[in-house]
Amino acid sequence: MDTADERWAAYYERLKDRPPRFTSVFAQRRFSQPGFAVDLGAGGGRDTIPLLAAGWRVLALDQEYTSIKTIRDAVPDELVSSLKLSQHSIETAEWPECDLINSSFALPLCEKSQFPNVWQRVIDRLRPSGRFSGQLYGNRDTWAKNGADDGVVAFTRSDCLTQLKDLKIEMFEEEEHDGFTPRGNFKHWHIFHIVARKD
Ligand SMILES: C[S@@+](CC[C@H](N)C(=O)[O-])C[C@H]1O[C@@H](n2cnc3c(N)ncnc32)[C@H](O)[C@@H]1O
Repeated sequence: MDTADERWAAYYERLKDRPPRFTSVFAQRRFSQPGFAVDLGAGGGRDTIPLLAAGWRVLALDQEYTSIKTIRDAVPDELVSSLKLSQHSIETAEWPECDLINSSFALPLCEKSQFPNVWQRVIDRLRPSGRFSGQLYGNRDTWAKNGADDGVVAFTRSDCLTQLKDLKIEMFEEEEHDGFTPRGNFKHWHIFHIVARKD
């Protein structure tokens, strides 16, 4: 049986040539100049590395050692000084105030009971006019397991919009279809793609 670290390593390898998530690209383009970003659950650096290349300073945080090593190995020397890496769980991590908090397909993997605290920390740490970009899962996603304790954090559309009530929504796209995971398993996807700004 593979360890979690080995499973994620295979995931990073499979996705390593994919472009950045459209949510992080959209958010980045809404800023007049690069700032400081925190990438929660940064994985293989799919968003972190393009942000660095666009002139951002980035704190990339992930609980897996392989994520931190993958990003460190992939970042070109000339961008290393703009990057900080942190191997930490999102639930217990602290991070400074920032202009952008990106979390692509990672926040809903938090411990369910901790999600409200994590989300409040996301909002608190955004500077005025700062943005959140990323995904939350919908309640009909296979991984939500109909709300079971071991399912991912998931929302109905209206609960998701309520979750964003303290932010100004700039993108809110709901995606729902049957399909495959990056590991090739069949599942039902129900995702909210989000970019939202703090006033
Ligand atoms: C689906 S991957 C997404 C990676 C990357 N953001 C992307 O879009 O390619 C989720 C990532 O979140 C990390 N992760 C999951 N739960 C976490 C937690 N509670 N704290 C920190 N990282 C976590 C995993 O190690 C993994 O790298």
